[in-house]
Amino acid sequence: MDQKTAKKSKEEQNLETLLRPGSFEDYVGQEKIKTNLRLIIDAAKGRGESSDHLLFYGQAGLGKTTLAYIIGKELGVNVRSTSGPALEKAGDIAALLSNLEPHEILFIDEIHRINKLVEEILYPALESRTLHLIIGKGPTARTFTLDLPPFTVIGATTRVNLLSSPLRSRFGATFRLDYYGMGDIEKIIERSARILGAPITPEGIHELALASRFTPRVANRLLKRARDYVQVYKKKHIDKQAVEKTLAMLEIDSLGLEDADRQLLEIIITKFNGGPVGLKTLAASLNEEMETIEGVYEPFLMKLGLLHRTPSGRVATPLAYEHLGIEREKKLL
Ligand SMILES: Nc1ncnc2c1ncn2[C@@H]1O[C@H](COP(=O)(O)OP(=O)(O)O)[C@@H](O)[C@H]1O
Ligand SMILES: [Mg+2]
Repeated sequence: MDQKTAKKSKEEQNLETLLRPGSFEDYVGQEKIKTNLRLIIDAAKGRGESSDHLLFYGQAGLGKTTLAYIIGKELGVNVRSTSGPALEKAGDIAALLSNLEPHEILFIDEIHRINKLVEEILYPALESRTLHLIIGKGPTARTFTLDLPPFTVIGATTRVNLLSSPLRSRFGATFRLDYYGMGDIEKIIERSARILGAPITPEGIHELALASRFTPRVANRLLKRARDYVQVYKKKHIDKQAVEKTLAMLEIDSLGLEDADRQLLEIIITKFNGGPVGLKTLAASLNEEMETIEGVYEPFLMKLGLLHRTPSGRVATPLAYEHLGIEREKKLL
């Protein structure tokens, strides 16, 4: 299981569809975003127009894709889905856009990964609903312009800082999804357990929530594992003990840290005396991509207060020493 990157297997995709909320009512938390989106949707509906283009960013598994589909449902329009890496040529995005029915939504996942050629088609499309296409090559090349029907692009990204600012500015509204609070994660686990028909105690819900990295996808994934455990060992319900056993088997600790998270902290503490240590050095020591460390591990460790980013590098906090059970060396002044 690859919990930290929140990447999905086939089996998990099925589970995800089953557990995916289909309406704002079922979509737990993120109240501000929901209020704003309801307003945008009502206004668009009232005018009989398409919604503005929308951009969602935040860590994997926080509910960006789910929101895109809820918006489609609320607007009563179809959502077509693609992703940055799937769009290789200018023609790929041009074909998608020119095939949209009026008011349909084009969802572009991982939009930070589109290339320059695709991006250049997107600019005028988002701004003025026109496609500028170049036919042919060299001196005989001709450009022509095609008007598009009204449509909405919803972009999603885990790395908003990798989006060019011209592209960002073409979205009418941008929303940042943050980690969920414990109460919301507990609600999500309760709802999912109900849908799966898995008996679970309040303590079981709480323990799972603690280890969920404040992320719905991870919460659902752990719930599923706990359900398997309870089934195999013929327990009545998912209680605290069942969750503890499940987590131990997955080598996930009570805060939701996996081996790789602990390793990162341990290296800062043991090799660099707690830091500060630069990202590049850290990446080399861990044999891990800088981007993964920065985009995946660190946000969660910072959220837990185990790691700080300072101008001179990464620092392990006293809490990190405590969590790992490592004695702090007194630094000589
Ligand atoms: N606010 C929420 N309430 C309930 N379940 C959620 C919520 N957000 C996400 N989920 C669950 O987590 C899973 C992952 O959400 P998804 O929208 O695919 O995340 P992202 O696109 O941000 O990676 C979904 O299948 C859904 O079941
Ligand atoms: Mg997604």
